[in-house]
Amino acid sequence: MRVLVTGGTGYIGSHTCVRLIEAGHTPVVIDNLSNSKVSVLARIEKLTGHKPAFYCGDVRDAKLLETIFSDHPIDSVIHFAALKAVGESVSKPLEYYDNNINGSLVLVDAMRRAGVTNFIFSSSATVYGEQPVIPYVETMPTGKPSSPYGNSKLMIEQCLQDLQKAQPEWSIALLRYFNPVGAHPSGSMGEDPQGIPNNLMPFIAQVAVGRRDSLSIFGNDYPTPDGTCQRDYIHVIDVADGHIAALDKVTGRPGVYTYNLGAGFGYSVLDVVNAFGQACGKPLPYHFAPRREGDLARFWADPTKAAVELNWRVKLNLDDMCADTWRWQSANPQGYPDE
Ligand code: UD1
Repeated sequence: MRVLVTGGTGYIGSHTCVRLIEAGHTPVVIDNLSNSKVSVLARIEKLTGHKPAFYCGDVRDAKLLETIFSDHPIDSVIHFAALKAVGESVSKPLEYYDNNINGSLVLVDAMRRAGVTNFIFSSSATVYGEQPVIPYVETMPTGKPSSPYGNSKLMIEQCLQDLQKAQPEWSIALLRYFNPVGAHPSGSMGEDPQGIPNNLMPFIAQVAVGRRDSLSIFGNDYPTPDGTCQRDYIHVIDVADGHIAALDKVTGRPGVYTYNLGAGFGYSVLDVVNAFGQACGKPLPYHFAPRREGDLARFWADPTKAAVELNWRVKLNLDDMCADTWRWQSANPQGYPDE
């Protein structure tokens, strides 16, 4: 299949391009490089022998999208392109709604004009908000996300549901990721956040490689076994494979299909710190700090639906996530080169 991958030079997008090529598909990438480097494309080529066609631009650029759809016989679209920093979204809500919601609407409109109706959307577990029971399952009503970033993901899900109701020929997958971490096992591709990392794993990796002094663990008084928050960490390669499984399942089968992409159990912040220490061969400096606003104590996925309907389940564990992140970070301490 020829697949347009928006945000294809980003963290999850680039790993998905590799897995798409390995599965025999042809990715075409659009990315505005606002949070990624074009040099990732050479890494994709080195790993797969294929360099995806690349368009540097924004998904809100309807003209550019028209060009891409006329240049390539696209079968399906996987839509990653979005802003994703939870904290930043609180101070810049309009930028988040414009990039994420408006970007998705312009993209879907361009697809409609081009007659492409297979769409895989990069959603998030944040759409569940806080639920009274764990694990989170797709049949639960969505909740109240804790940020404009989360609201944008929920609103896009709702727009896509309404679109499919009005135009039943659309096939749409909503993939709700839990906590994607890890890197390509080769160590040549990984997460490369600009500035101070907001998320746990990239922060730990930068402490391990000496770019930061110590990890602040946000809260050690949560009602969890060791007092730190528990999350469902999932290897980025497993996340990428979830998209390929979803592509195979939904393409040409009209409907809206919602799947959790998670492992089905939670690890605490201290579990991750200790596993990373094992992977890099040294204990990591950390200290306890106040809770971070908006953090939930614990949640993880019920991944049964994806296992039954997509025949997809995670294959990689926390040790793999840490070992691969460390291989990437130690080989590329400053992330990707500029060119
Ligand atoms: C957040 C988003 C989620 C997004 C994910 C990307 C929400 C509620 N969550 O998840 O939508 O998909 O990022 O991976 O919108 N921690 C520390 N110190 C740090 C950083 C994090 O202790 O320096 C702790 C946090 O308090 C949390 C855990 O590590 O308990 C995981 O945090 P993080 O990696 O930021 O992910 P989430 O907040 O779970």
